[in-house]
This record gives sequence, C-alpha cells and structure tokens, in this order.
Amino acid sequence: MRDALDKKCRARQTRDMKNTAVANLHTDGQDFVIRDTFDHASLIVDKQERVRSGFDAFPSTRFYGSKRRQLPWLCSVFAELPGKTILDACGGTGTVSLLLSNLGKQVTYNDVFAFNQISATALFGRKQSKPQDLLVFLDEVRPVRGFISKTFKGMYFTDEENHWLDGIMSLVVDIDDAEWRAMILYCLFQACLKKRPFNLFHRANLGLRHSKGKVKFGNRTTWDASFSTHMMSAHADLLKARALVETPVNVLPAGSADVTVGNFDIVYLDPPYFNSHRHTESYLHRYHFLEGLARYEEWPRLLNNGSPIRQLRDEAVPGEWSSKGRFESQLMSTLDRYIDSTIVLSYVAEAYPSESTLRRSFEERFSQVRVIEKPFNRALSKRSRMELIFVGQNL
Ligand SMILES: C[S@@+](CC[C@H](N)C(=O)[O-])C[C@H]1O[C@@H](n2cnc3c(N)ncnc32)[C@H](O)[C@@H]1O
Repeated sequence: MRDALDKKCRARQTRDMKNTAVANLHTDGQDFVIRDTFDHASLIVDKQERVRSGFDAFPSTRFYGSKRRQLPWLCSVFAELPGKTILDACGGTGTVSLLLSNLGKQVTYNDVFAFNQISATALFGRKQSKPQDLLVFLDEVRPVRGFISKTFKGMYFTDEENHWLDGIMSLVVDIDDAEWRAMILYCLFQACLKKRPFNLFHRANLGLRHSKGKVKFGNRTTWDASFSTHMMSAHADLLKARALVETPVNVLPAGSADVTVGNFDIVYLDPPYFNSHRHTESYLHRYHFLEGLARYEEWPRLLNNGSPIRQLRDEAVPGEWSSKGRFESQLMSTLDRYIDSTIVLSYVAEAYPSESTLRRSFEERFSQVRVIEKPFNRALSKRSRMELIFVGQNL
C-alpha cells in the first residue's frame, strides 16, 4: 500500500513540476490522469482531488477542519521535502500523521484535546480486535439514567440514547486495557458525530432531528441509526486505516503545540483558523461533548453550569488556540520554537492574520519561503475557498 501511495505522490509531483512553477502553484481543478509506471495502471483523480483508490482507505470523518480531502495535495508537498522526523503539531483526526507514516516518516502526533489524543491512540495502536469483540462488548451495554441523561436532557440526543450513552460509559471507565478503551471511544466519538445535525455540539438543537423542515446537513436516517450501528462501521474503518500504518506513530499526551518538546526535521502545523470578519467558534465549543466523554469521570467538575449548551469551562482545555487576539503571537512563538526545522503550515485565504502578514512573518524567520495555493470546495457551500500551504526553511 505504501509503495502505491508513494508512487501516486511522486507521479503527482512530477506532473505538478512539469506543468507549473512549484513556487506558486495554482491548480485549475481539471480532471487528469497519472501514469503509474510500475503497474501501468492509470489513476483517475477527480475535480475535488479525491484519489479514487489508495486514499479511500483513510478513515472518513465528520471532524471540522480535517485534511482528509487534501491528502493527495499534502502528499505531493511532503514528498519533496527532505527529512525523516515529523511533528504533526495540531493533529486532529490523525489523518495527516497516517499519511506521513504511510510514506515511511517517523511521526509524532500532538493535539490539545484528550478526545483527539485518544482517537490517535486508537488509530496508531497495535491492539488486535475483531468486529466480533466489539459486538460482544456492545451486547453488554445496559441503559441507565446517569450523568449524561440528567445533564443533557433534550439537548443533543433523545432520552433513550442518553441512557444508552450512560450505560456504555459505565462499562468504558472499567476497561483496564488503555488501547481497547481508546478503540471503543474512537468508535463512540465517530458515532456521536454522525448522529448530530451539522456533526457538532455547538447548539442544543435536538429538535432539528424531529422537525419537518428540509435537512441541510446530515440526514435523518444517519441520525436515527443506533450508536452501535455507527460504532461497528467506525471499527471497520479503523481496521482498514491501520493497514496503512508503515512506521509507528508516537502519540504525545494532549497539550498545546507551543509547548511540545523535541527535535524534528519537519513540523507540520494545521491550526484552527480565525475568520477575519466575524467571531470563530472554538473547537471546545464545537466538541465539548466528546472531550467530556474522553474525561468522563472529571466531566461533572469541568462543566460550566451557566452555559446554555452545558459546555466545559474554558479552563478545562487551557492550551487551546481559541482567542483571535492571541493567536498570531502563539503561532509565531511556535515558529520560533522550531526555527531549525522545516515548517509546513496549512492555512486558508481570508483568515486572520492575513496571508500577507503570515508571509512577512515567515520571511523574517526563514531564508526560503514558498506559498502554495489551491481552491477546494467547502461543505455546506457552493463557493470554493483558497487553501494555502506555507513552507519555510532555513537552508
Ligand atoms: C484544522 S484542525 C487540524 C485537522 C487535522 N490536520 C486533521 O486532518 O484532522 C485544528 C486542530 O488544532 C487543534 N488545536 C487547537 N489548539 C491547539 C493547540 N494550542 N495545540 C495543538 N492543537 C491545537 C484542534 O484540536 C484541532 O484538532
């Protein structure tokens, strides 16, 4: 599998280098065909840059900001960079770490949230488990009326579903095997996302599931399918994804990117983006419920009781880059921390700070700076948005 992806990546890179100056790469979104010289197969890449084979094995996710759709593009950028050790500093779903492991790099994964750290532990763990093992576990779940049922009544899931969540969590906390616990939580997080309108917990909008109106994001069949059904499918995805792991990935304890320690040839940064014109919701606001599940036993005392959505208190995840006012200096201090590494930063046009400000900051710090750009379609919108990759190196 690694060879196949590697070849795709190289083929893509060769095509890019032939057609375009790498220093300012624009792609027009046309269909194209790559000749795979090894097995002479042609790989069709569609307008959204989704490789129809190879990259399909990467787990699907509803996580906001996931780079899954950009993997072929990122692959072509990383393939041309020298260096073996890489820090994926804001790793999220772990999909980029998975790509890098597949390319044979020595990867260290980091994210500030415990639920993301747990998901990465599941993805990069070695614990063997068959679908039957999960089925047996799920069969033991008995609904109970516990913390979730009482705290989140009528907000995110139905009463019946809340009782089931309390039931599964009463079993999860007693699992001693950390990897098996992580695998179950991974499947549960994915199931929770799928069952939520907009795949988020930013609003207590359970009513949308029962409204007669047109559904804009998600669908009723997916929302109404059981947690168990979604968990079995997430488990299948997880096993498929694990076959892509080539080199072990080191998962750091949850913490902020600006305090990670270590020497890395490359540091990949994919931070939250702040809208330049309006307020941007934090990841804590979007995913507080998953963070609560990840830290179930602490959840009652992490709760902000005054919050209408029963969010966790901001102090629960103090390191998150969630303030537009502080973000620029936090990002710059991370660049300074890794000034001897090659920095690869995923970003978007029209975010705060602006592309030109960031370019200046890179140029002040690195002798070689490239900004590569490419339009991608956005979920929920017909408009595309310009995605950027900054590469800074001191040669
Ligand atoms: C755009 S997403 C990254 C998505 C990821 N590359 C993927 O493909 O799934 C931004 C990530 O930054 C994380 N984050 C926010 N503040 C952080 C911080 N101070 N240090 C590390 N990660 C942080 C969020 O939890 C989120 O997972």
